Amino acid sequence: MKRKTSMKMISFCNKKGGVGKTTLCKNVAYKFGLDGAKVLLIDLDPQATLSVQFYTNKIIKDVTLLKMFGGFNVGINNIIQSTKYKNIDIIITGEELTKSSTILNNLYTKDNIYKVGKNIFGNFNNIFLKYDYVLIDYPPTVLELAVNFLIISDLVIIPINNGLGAFKGILDLKNTLNHICRQENITVPTLRIVFNNVKEDEDTIEIYKLLEEEKLNSNLLQSIITNSKSFIKTENKLNSIWENKHYWRQKKAYEELIKEII
Ligand SMILES: Nc1ncnc2c1ncn2[C@@H]1O[C@H](COP(=O)(O)OP(=O)(O)O)[C@@H](O)[C@H]1O
Ligand SMILES: [Mg+2]
Repeated sequence: MKRKTSMKMISFCNKKGGVGKTTLCKNVAYKFGLDGAKVLLIDLDPQATLSVQFYTNKIIKDVTLLKMFGGFNVGINNIIQSTKYKNIDIIITGEELTKSSTILNNLYTKDNIYKVGKNIFGNFNNIFLKYDYVLIDYPPTVLELAVNFLIISDLVIIPINNGLGAFKGILDLKNTLNHICRQENITVPTLRIVFNNVKEDEDTIEIYKLLEEEKLNSNLLQSIITNSKSFIKTENKLNSIWENKHYWRQKKAYEELIKEII
């Protein structure tokens, strides 16, 4: 899909949990907002790890993306809420998102089910274009709703660590996207892999070899986010990583990553 806009939609996805999707998404969002860019976060993981970190006490908890379906028929403008951080808005998620597949399959035919994201984007283009970045956090289980947003993304960031599970998660995601995009006759979104949570002394040679074998090394970003206690410490207080002068190494790694993806 060709879009004449300056808004960039970036997805953080891997069909494996615990690889740093949410951590990367929230820190990139925070840094964008800090630099004055307007950011819309969309949380697609029913576990709501991202949502809870951006909540204010004013947030209305049942206003998720599902409100757009199943007879509610509200506009995307009605489900966007402010966060506690400057320049960052959010579409939150919740347990009810586990029902998204059933709802979408009831409402749409096989031929239309992967046009939902494209239609939402088309119908509410003016809202999306108010933002410089739309950043989307995904669950490891990539169902119809998730695929809909992946295939309209400008970029899909796939975090991996040094584990085989995370590597397999890339292949699974790539297969899903290849399959759906072929079926829908659209181009596969740009995929970029980033090493995250790798320990300084860890040997990543095996994963590099596997990436090479699968011809995925050209998809690999240069930046590496190493393992750091600061990411765990800042789980509840997001601003601290960006305001704590001891975390310069992490900040620098993120700045390098951002340079590669914008
Ligand atoms: N670079 C890192 N260094 C240390 N811990 C990390 C790093 N990246 C993520 N983590 C931690 O790993 C756990 C899983 O990360 P998370 O972003 O929630 O993964 P996912 O969203 O892919 O399930 C979290 O506790 C998070 O704080
Ligand atoms: Mg997550």
